[in-house]
Amino acid sequence: MNEIAKQTLPTFVVEERAQADRAVAAEIEALVRAKPTAALGLATGNTPIGVYAELVRLHREAGLDFSRVVTFNLDEYLGLPLGHPRTFRCWMCDHFFDHVNLAPDNIHMPDAGLPPERAVESCARYEAAIQAAGGLDLLILGIGRNGHIGFNEPGSTRDSRTRIVDLAPLTRADAAATFGSLDEVPKQAITIGVATILDARAIRAMAFGPSKAEIVARTLSAPIGPDLPATFLRQRAHVTLHVDRDAAARIGERNRP
Ligand code: F6R
Repeated sequence: MNEIAKQTLPTFVVEERAQADRAVAAEIEALVRAKPTAALGLATGNTPIGVYAELVRLHREAGLDFSRVVTFNLDEYLGLPLGHPRTFRCWMCDHFFDHVNLAPDNIHMPDAGLPPERAVESCARYEAAIQAAGGLDLLILGIGRNGHIGFNEPGSTRDSRTRIVDLAPLTRADAAATFGSLDEVPKQAITIGVATILDARAIRAMAFGPSKAEIVARTLSAPIGPDLPATFLRQRAHVTLHVDRDAAARIGERNRP
């Protein structure tokens, strides 16, 4: 193993995923109370659901104010019409946006409903908008079973930025149940890049359940590189990984790469 492959990622193992949800939500709460104009990077999917539920609770029961918070989602499927129920925008409305007091103008999603030629321009605009907001203060992240972060699939380089990507077969297969069939799953998406992710001032990555055990172990031990984009998280000091017992089950096994 070379030096780079040894770099570690502080990992917190919890008995119940709700503990991780509360811990990450508490960090977001502290950030937003200290900096009401904070810029948050947001993921969709099964992993962060509990964090959003906890943030909604904090908004309702503890007055957590999102009125000046700015949000940027990591990714969006390409080619789904605006309002399609499987867009990440709809997902975010269902789980978070419709339940807190974010200002609509402060919510940013990759503009993936555009025809491909205009979507390319929108990627540069998205990257510029993140810069204009002062960069991401805190980003929450899930990890795909193939090691993707955002939709930076295997092969994505350390210096990648917001762009159109082809979705990997495993990513599309994992989304098939949500869409009803594999044929319905878009083949492309817009994602912020690995570099955009690593520029965030804090990253809270999470993984739960037995289906993530293999990728969590490899994220922590495989050589850092594009073959497994989640390994890039080990290059930054401000990243923590939060996993439950099931997702942690294979950490430390030999010959992981
Ligand atoms: C979603 C995203 C993806 C997911 C990952 C894990 O916005 O960027 O990288 O975080 O595919 O998905 P779940 O959480 O559904 O297992």
